[in-house]
Amino acid sequence: MATAGASQGLSFACTHLMKPGDPVLIEDPTYFLAEQLILEHHLKTVGVRTDDDGINVEDLEKQLKAIPIKNPSEGYSAMLYLVPTFSNPRGTTISHEKRQRIVALAHQYNVIVVCDDVYELLCYKGAQPPVPRLFSYDAAILRDTPAASKRGHVISNASFSKIFGPGVRLGWIEAWVDIQEKLTNTGFMASGGGVQHCMSGLMGTAIQNGSLDRVIAALQAAYGARMAAVCAKLRQAIPAGVVNLIEPQGGLFMWVEFRDTAVDTEALLARARREFAVGFQPGNRFSQSKTFGHCMRLGIAFHPEAELLSGVDRLARLIHASIADGSIRVVP
Ligand SMILES: Cc1ncc(COP(=O)(O)O)c(C=O)c1O
Repeated sequence: MATAGASQGLSFACTHLMKPGDPVLIEDPTYFLAEQLILEHHLKTVGVRTDDDGINVEDLEKQLKAIPIKNPSEGYSAMLYLVPTFSNPRGTTISHEKRQRIVALAHQYNVIVVCDDVYELLCYKGAQPPVPRLFSYDAAILRDTPAASKRGHVISNASFSKIFGPGVRLGWIEAWVDIQEKLTNTGFMASGGGVQHCMSGLMGTAIQNGSLDRVIAALQAAYGARMAAVCAKLRQAIPAGVVNLIEPQGGLFMWVEFRDTAVDTEALLARARREFAVGFQPGNRFSQSKTFGHCMRLGIAFHPEAELLSGVDRLARLIHASIADGSIRVVP
């Protein structure tokens, strides 16, 4: 089904699949506007730890055990919100093994998993393509389920805003048919007769004539080159023992963790803007537990490579100045 972007897709899921007060499990850290949107639906967020290969499944199961399981006839017991591939904010991807376990847990605990698959197609040129979406794992289970009990547990929520242009405000949801019915048999859809008819027609043409494929290929090459250049410059300009970073294989974001956990990136940002005219997103803006004050998110979508490299240069000068005055410690 078409949506006006992934934000609307998530909003539909919150409105039509959840009831006020229901729990929504979110990764800690996660995309902060998704958390805000979820809270605006009067739902309750529950943070789950996350590792370098995505959500920590042991912690997820621990949190699920604490949630009362509803009978499927009353709806889902909880929602799990994920950005499984090239995530925002960490740029990481959930492994195949974890995807299998997450979908199995969703069936066991009657959970609907909403996957923001918005960066999935932005795998860098030459990188290994990502593992299949969680939706494929759900569909594989459902294909072998008797017709009477087929019930979807995963939504793939995607968007043209990251692969064609943010202004198109068009996205799509792929989910098992029972979920699509719940999302489309609604007053909103009946009243408007769907969403974004005109833009859907234009994008349909862009798909058919190959324009979308060309734009995606250009983005994969450009973002890949930018990310590689930024990572190389970070490694070269920041002294050893100061930060940990994982080079993403796709998407728009990279997570930088200071080894000195006392670093406060919110305070660092104020100095970065004031003295070095450079910016980043402090880690705690993405965190429910506020335990990521020593982390920051860097983004590569907005600026061309030369400007990004100049930004990294200024960031490195800020870090050198902070090491010199003792506000950042080197932790070998
Ligand atoms: C994970 C994630 N989901 C959704 C969105 C918003 O998507 P859309 O513009 O399609 O509403 C963003 C934008 O940054 C995002 O990072």
